Amino acid sequence: MITIKNDEEIQKMKVSGHINYLTHEYLKTLIVPGITTDYLNEEADRFIRSHGGVPSFLNYNGYPKSICTSINDEIVHGIPSKRLLEEGDIISIDIGVLKDGYHSDAARTYPVGKISKQDEELIFHTKKMLMIGLEEVKNGAYIGSIGAAISTYAKKHELSVVRELVGHGVGKNLHEDPDVPNYGKYNTGIILKTGMVIAVEPMINSGTRNIIQYEDDDWTILTRDHKNSAHFEHTVVVTDDGYKILTGE
Ligand code: MF3
Ligand code: CO
Repeated sequence: MITIKNDEEIQKMKVSGHINYLTHEYLKTLIVPGITTDYLNEEADRFIRSHGGVPSFLNYNGYPKSICTSINDEIVHGIPSKRLLEEGDIISIDIGVLKDGYHSDAARTYPVGKISKQDEELIFHTKKMLMIGLEEVKNGAYIGSIGAAISTYAKKHELSVVRELVGHGVGKNLHEDPDVPNYGKYNTGIILKTGMVIAVEPMINSGTRNIIQYEDDDWTILTRDHKNSAHFEHTVVVTDDGYKILTGE
Protein backbone atom coordinates (compact mmCIF):
# COMPACT_ATOMS: atom_id res chain seq x y z
CA MET A 1 0.00 0.00 0.00
CA ILE A 2 1.35 3.42 -0.96
CA THR A 3 0.73 6.07 1.69
CA ILE A 4 0.31 9.80 1.12
CA LYS A 5 1.85 11.84 3.91
CA ASN A 6 0.08 14.92 5.25
CA ASP A 7 1.86 18.19 6.08
CA GLU A 8 2.42 17.22 9.70
CA GLU A 9 4.03 13.94 8.64
CA ILE A 10 6.19 15.67 6.03
CA GLN A 11 7.32 18.09 8.72
CA LYS A 12 8.45 15.16 10.90
CA MET A 13 10.17 13.49 7.98
CA LYS A 14 12.03 16.73 7.29
CA VAL A 15 13.40 16.67 10.83
CA SER A 16 14.42 13.02 10.45
CA GLY A 17 16.00 13.79 7.08
CA HIS A 18 17.88 16.75 8.47
CA ILE A 19 19.48 14.62 11.20
CA ASN A 20 20.41 12.16 8.46
CA TYR A 21 22.00 14.97 6.43
CA LEU A 22 23.93 16.30 9.44
CA THR A 23 25.21 12.79 10.19
CA HIS A 24 26.58 12.50 6.66
CA GLU A 25 28.17 15.93 6.94
CA TYR A 26 29.80 14.90 10.21
CA LEU A 27 31.05 11.49 9.02
CA LYS A 28 32.50 13.11 5.89
CA THR A 29 34.92 15.04 8.11
CA LEU A 30 36.18 11.81 9.73
CA ILE A 31 37.03 9.88 6.57
CA VAL A 32 40.82 9.55 6.29
CA PRO A 33 43.12 6.59 5.65
CA GLY A 34 43.74 4.54 8.80
CA ILE A 35 40.36 4.72 10.55
CA THR A 36 38.09 1.69 10.90
CA THR A 37 34.52 1.45 9.65
CA ASP A 38 33.58 0.50 13.23
CA TYR A 39 34.73 3.97 14.26
CA LEU A 40 32.42 5.56 11.67
CA ASN A 41 29.60 3.34 12.95
CA GLU A 42 30.15 4.36 16.57
CA GLU A 43 30.38 8.04 15.72
CA ALA A 44 27.22 7.85 13.58
CA ASP A 45 25.31 6.03 16.31
CA ARG A 46 26.32 8.58 18.91
CA PHE A 47 25.63 11.55 16.61
CA ILE A 48 22.15 10.35 15.61
CA ARG A 49 21.14 9.68 19.24
CA SER A 50 22.54 13.01 20.44
CA HIS A 51 20.18 14.66 17.92
CA GLY A 52 17.18 12.76 19.30
CA GLY A 53 17.05 10.09 16.62
CA VAL A 54 17.54 6.33 16.52
CA PRO A 55 19.58 4.54 13.81
CA SER A 56 16.98 2.83 11.61
CA PHE A 57 19.25 0.02 10.43
CA LEU A 58 20.30 -1.34 13.83
CA ASN A 59 18.47 -4.67 14.27
CA TYR A 60 16.56 -4.16 11.00
CA ASN A 61 15.95 -7.79 9.93
CA GLY A 62 18.80 -8.65 12.30
CA TYR A 63 21.29 -6.15 10.82
CA PRO A 64 24.00 -5.81 13.51
CA LYS A 65 25.22 -2.19 13.13
CA SER A 66 23.87 1.36 12.93
CA ILE A 67 25.01 2.27 9.40
CA CYS A 68 26.19 0.44 6.27
CA THR A 69 29.76 0.98 5.07
CA SER A 70 30.52 -0.54 1.67
CA ILE A 71 34.09 -0.28 0.36
CA ASN A 72 35.24 -0.44 -3.30
CA ASP A 73 33.61 -3.52 -4.91
CA GLU A 74 31.04 -3.71 -2.11
CA ILE A 75 27.82 -2.25 -3.50
CA VAL A 76 25.63 -1.99 -0.41
CA HIS A 77 24.99 -3.44 3.07
CA GLY A 78 28.67 -3.65 4.05
CA ILE A 79 28.90 -4.16 7.81
CA PRO A 80 31.19 -1.86 9.81
CA SER A 81 34.18 -3.79 11.16
CA LYS A 82 37.81 -3.46 12.18
CA ARG A 83 38.72 -3.03 8.51
CA LEU A 84 40.93 0.01 7.99
CA LEU A 85 40.22 2.54 5.29
CA GLU A 86 43.12 2.85 2.87
CA GLU A 87 44.24 5.73 0.67
CA GLY A 88 42.51 5.32 -2.70
CA ASP A 89 39.45 3.45 -1.36
CA ILE A 90 35.94 4.64 -2.03
CA ILE A 91 33.36 4.10 0.72
CA SER A 92 29.60 4.19 0.39
CA ILE A 93 27.91 5.17 3.62
CA ASP A 94 24.20 4.50 4.00
CA ILE A 95 22.35 6.04 6.94
CA GLY A 96 18.82 5.55 8.23
CA VAL A 97 17.33 7.75 10.95
CA LEU A 98 14.10 7.22 12.89
CA LYS A 99 12.75 10.34 14.58
CA ASP A 100 9.24 10.90 15.97
CA GLY A 101 8.01 7.75 14.26
CA TYR A 102 9.36 8.53 10.77
CA HIS A 103 12.39 7.21 8.91
CA SER A 104 14.76 8.87 6.46
CA ASP A 105 17.27 7.05 4.27
CA ALA A 106 20.31 8.54 2.51
CA ALA A 107 23.55 7.29 1.04
CA ARG A 108 26.66 8.85 -0.47
CA THR A 109 29.97 7.53 -1.77
CA TYR A 110 33.08 9.26 -0.42
CA PRO A 111 36.72 9.19 -1.52
CA VAL A 112 39.39 8.12 0.99
CA GLY A 113 42.33 10.43 0.33
CA LYS A 114 43.37 10.56 -3.30
CA ILE A 115 41.41 8.21 -5.56
CA SER A 116 41.76 7.13 -9.18
CA LYS A 117 40.37 9.19 -12.02
CA GLN A 118 38.04 6.30 -12.85
CA ASP A 119 36.60 6.26 -9.32
CA GLU A 120 36.25 10.04 -9.35
CA GLU A 121 34.18 9.71 -12.50
CA LEU A 122 32.14 6.84 -11.07
CA ILE A 123 31.25 8.97 -8.04
CA PHE A 124 30.53 12.05 -10.16
CA HIS A 125 28.25 10.17 -12.54
CA THR A 126 26.40 8.24 -9.82
CA LYS A 127 25.63 11.45 -7.94
CA LYS A 128 24.47 12.95 -11.24
CA MET A 129 22.27 9.91 -11.90
CA LEU A 130 20.48 10.40 -8.58
CA MET A 131 19.67 13.99 -9.61
CA ILE A 132 18.69 12.97 -13.15
CA GLY A 133 16.32 10.35 -11.71
CA LEU A 134 14.86 12.94 -9.34
CA GLU A 135 14.24 15.32 -12.26
CA GLU A 136 11.49 12.91 -13.35
CA VAL A 137 9.69 13.13 -10.01
CA LYS A 138 6.49 15.18 -9.77
CA ASN A 139 2.78 14.77 -9.22
CA GLY A 140 1.33 12.82 -12.15
CA ALA A 141 4.65 11.40 -13.41
CA TYR A 142 5.24 7.70 -13.95
CA ILE A 143 7.65 5.98 -11.57
CA GLY A 144 9.25 4.06 -14.47
CA SER A 145 10.58 7.33 -15.87
CA ILE A 146 13.00 7.61 -12.93
CA GLY A 147 14.78 4.37 -13.80
CA ALA A 148 14.56 5.09 -17.51
CA ALA A 149 16.40 8.39 -17.06
CA ILE A 150 19.03 6.77 -14.81
CA SER A 151 19.70 3.81 -17.08
CA THR A 152 19.82 5.97 -20.22
CA TYR A 153 22.51 8.12 -18.60
CA ALA A 154 24.41 5.04 -17.38
CA LYS A 155 24.48 3.55 -20.85
CA LYS A 156 25.83 6.76 -22.32
CA HIS A 157 28.71 6.73 -19.84
CA GLU A 158 29.35 2.97 -20.06
CA LEU A 159 28.39 2.31 -16.47
CA SER A 160 26.03 -0.42 -15.31
CA VAL A 161 22.94 -0.27 -13.16
CA VAL A 162 22.32 -2.81 -10.39
CA ARG A 163 18.84 -4.29 -10.82
CA GLU A 164 18.43 -6.61 -7.87
CA LEU A 165 18.18 -3.75 -5.39
CA VAL A 166 15.81 -0.83 -5.78
CA GLY A 167 14.66 2.38 -4.14
CA HIS A 168 11.47 2.37 -2.11
CA GLY A 169 8.79 4.31 -0.29
CA VAL A 170 9.78 5.67 3.13
CA GLY A 171 7.67 6.67 6.13
CA LYS A 172 6.65 4.95 9.34
CA ASN A 173 8.57 2.03 7.86
CA LEU A 174 12.07 2.21 6.41
CA HIS A 175 10.94 0.28 3.36
CA GLU A 176 7.44 0.91 2.05
CA ASP A 177 5.69 0.61 -1.30
CA PRO A 178 6.35 1.45 -4.05
CA ASP A 179 9.58 -0.09 -5.39
CA VAL A 180 11.65 2.50 -7.24
CA PRO A 181 13.85 0.66 -9.78
CA ASN A 182 16.89 2.32 -11.32
CA TYR A 183 16.08 0.86 -14.74
CA GLY A 184 12.88 0.70 -16.75
CA LYS A 185 10.79 2.44 -19.36
CA TYR A 186 9.47 5.99 -19.54
CA ASN A 187 5.76 6.39 -18.75
CA THR A 188 5.30 2.96 -17.15
CA GLY A 189 4.49 1.84 -13.63
CA ILE A 190 2.53 3.63 -10.93
CA ILE A 191 1.78 7.34 -11.06
CA LEU A 192 3.46 9.52 -8.44
CA LYS A 193 1.20 11.72 -6.33
CA THR A 194 1.88 14.78 -4.19
CA GLY A 195 2.70 13.64 -0.65
CA MET A 196 4.29 10.32 -1.55
CA VAL A 197 7.75 9.96 -0.01
CA ILE A 198 10.31 7.85 -1.86
CA ALA A 199 13.99 7.01 -1.60
CA VAL A 200 15.71 7.07 -4.99
CA GLU A 201 19.02 5.24 -4.81
CA PRO A 202 21.03 4.34 -7.90
CA MET A 203 23.71 1.69 -7.30
CA ILE A 204 26.12 2.00 -10.22
CA ASN A 205 28.99 -0.31 -11.17
CA SER A 206 32.13 0.46 -13.20
CA GLY A 207 32.05 -3.04 -14.69
CA THR A 208 29.28 -5.59 -15.02
CA ARG A 209 25.91 -5.06 -13.35
CA ASN A 210 26.03 -8.58 -11.87
CA ILE A 211 26.19 -8.97 -8.12
CA ILE A 212 27.25 -11.59 -5.59
CA GLN A 213 26.34 -11.99 -1.94
CA TYR A 214 29.24 -12.32 0.47
CA GLU A 215 28.60 -15.65 2.21
CA ASP A 216 30.44 -14.92 5.44
CA ASP A 217 28.06 -12.27 6.77
CA ASP A 218 24.81 -12.78 4.81
CA TRP A 219 24.60 -9.03 4.17
CA THR A 220 27.32 -7.57 1.99
CA ILE A 221 26.48 -7.33 -1.72
CA LEU A 222 29.50 -7.08 -4.06
CA THR A 223 30.10 -6.72 -7.78
CA ARG A 224 30.67 -10.08 -9.41
CA ASP A 225 33.71 -8.80 -11.32
CA HIS A 226 35.06 -6.98 -8.23
CA LYS A 227 35.15 -3.64 -10.01
CA ASN A 228 34.09 -0.67 -7.90
CA SER A 229 30.55 0.52 -7.25
CA ALA A 230 28.98 3.77 -6.03
CA HIS A 231 25.66 4.57 -4.34
CA PHE A 232 23.80 7.84 -3.83
CA GLU A 233 20.39 8.08 -2.18
CA HIS A 234 18.00 10.82 -1.09
CA THR A 235 14.62 10.59 0.57
CA VAL A 236 12.29 13.01 -1.25
CA VAL A 237 8.65 14.06 -1.09
CA VAL A 238 6.68 14.36 -4.33
CA THR A 239 5.21 17.85 -4.87
CA ASP A 240 2.79 19.35 -7.40
CA ASP A 241 5.59 20.51 -9.67
CA GLY A 242 8.58 18.37 -8.65
CA TYR A 243 10.09 17.11 -5.44
CA LYS A 244 11.64 18.30 -2.21
CA ILE A 245 14.74 16.58 -0.86
CA LEU A 246 14.24 15.71 2.82
CA THR A 247 17.78 14.45 3.41
CA GLY A 248 19.50 17.62 2.21
CA GLU A 249 20.26 20.88 3.97
N1 MF3 B 1 19.23 1.90 2.97
C1 MF3 B 1 19.22 0.50 2.78
C2 MF3 B 1 18.27 0.15 1.68
O1 MF3 B 1 17.39 0.91 1.37
C3 MF3 B 1 18.73 -0.18 3.98
C4 MF3 B 1 19.73 -0.98 4.64
S1 MF3 B 1 19.00 -1.58 6.03
C5 MF3 B 1 20.05 -2.68 6.64
O2 MF3 B 1 18.40 -0.93 1.12
F1 MF3 B 1 19.64 -2.94 7.80
F2 MF3 B 1 20.02 -3.69 5.83
F3 MF3 B 1 21.23 -2.16 6.65
CO1 CO C 1 17.14 2.89 0.85
